[in-house]
Amino acid sequence: METRRSFLKKSVLIGTAAAIPTLPSCYSSIHATVPMKTKSIKKAAVLWYSQTGNTMRCGKVLAKKLKENEIEVVSGDIRDFDAASIKDIDLLVIGAPVFYYDVPEYVKKFIKSLPNLKGVPVAAYVTFGGPEGNQYNAACSILEELVSKKGVPVGLSSFQSISSFSMTYDKEKDLRTKDNTILPDRNTYKKVKKFADFIKIEVENGKNSTYKKSLTLREFSTFFGLTWWTKKFVDNHSIIRERCVGCGKCEEICPTKSINPDNYTVNTNTCVLCLGCVNNCDYQAVHMEYSDKRVVGFNDYLKKNKLQFEY
Ligand SMILES: Cc1cc2nc3c(=O)[nH]c(=O)nc-3n(C[C@H](O)[C@H](O)[C@H](O)COP(=O)(O)O)c2cc1C
Repeated sequence: METRRSFLKKSVLIGTAAAIPTLPSCYSSIHATVPMKTKSIKKAAVLWYSQTGNTMRCGKVLAKKLKENEIEVVSGDIRDFDAASIKDIDLLVIGAPVFYYDVPEYVKKFIKSLPNLKGVPVAAYVTFGGPEGNQYNAACSILEELVSKKGVPVGLSSFQSISSFSMTYDKEKDLRTKDNTILPDRNTYKKVKKFADFIKIEVENGKNSTYKKSLTLREFSTFFGLTWWTKKFVDNHSIIRERCVGCGKCEEICPTKSINPDNYTVNTNTCVLCLGCVNNCDYQAVHMEYSDKRVVGFNDYLKKNKLQFEY
């Protein structure tokens, strides 16, 4: 039988061979290709994708800070927005969590479906559980997509958060917080507000920036399809009929419509292993095993450790 080690070894070799030809294009610089539309922000959109609330918390603070500067702000989760309706804006900020060292695919899809931005200043932020989560490159990926839509890059930031990657919660050494402080917190929000100010000043000065992804091992590993690999260690992803109350939360949060509430099944082929279902079920009704251990969801983890977000 193939061991985990031999499987990983084989996969790294195959992945490396496949990734090498694509490397040069991934490290080209991210810069404006059109002039900036305006130096005065009257209307902004701050949109995020958030599975367990960290990115949303930062997005709300950012939106509020912009509003304090007399800017009209449209804000919310990208799932509540029709990309075609995002128009007549002078600034677009997109936030996302880092998943598997990258930006979730559906965030990229959302950006691809936006209309031509025609020089609208754009900024990106990510939240990450890290400490080293490839956060800079992930934020660059958002900007890259926005620039391909003719946005003009003016800023990028990342905010450390409590990790919602549940696979390791049952390991004591992996307690996700230090001194029971869960992030984002007061200090994170100060950083978010500074970022909002920075973006505004950059636009007023008509200053756009050039970014380049760092060549890191973590970035390199994104070429290997980390989700697919992680799936290899996941078993029995299903809904426990006796526990399910039929609230529909998992079905609603699943970005790939992989949950069938009628027969309590999960389509593991289409599932992208975002853990949205496991992390958000209030009834411990979503079952998943990783390396033969039951995965403890994010909300259950918080409850179990009596942890609460301060803000
Ligand atoms: C499926 C999954 C994969 C993740 N992968 C990473 C990662 O590669 N690097 C990292 O720093 N954090 C990772 N995290 C942690 C999240 O990026 C972090 O907790 C984030 O703040 C969650 O944002 P949200 O609450 O807005 O969904 C991962 C979380 C999940 C659920």
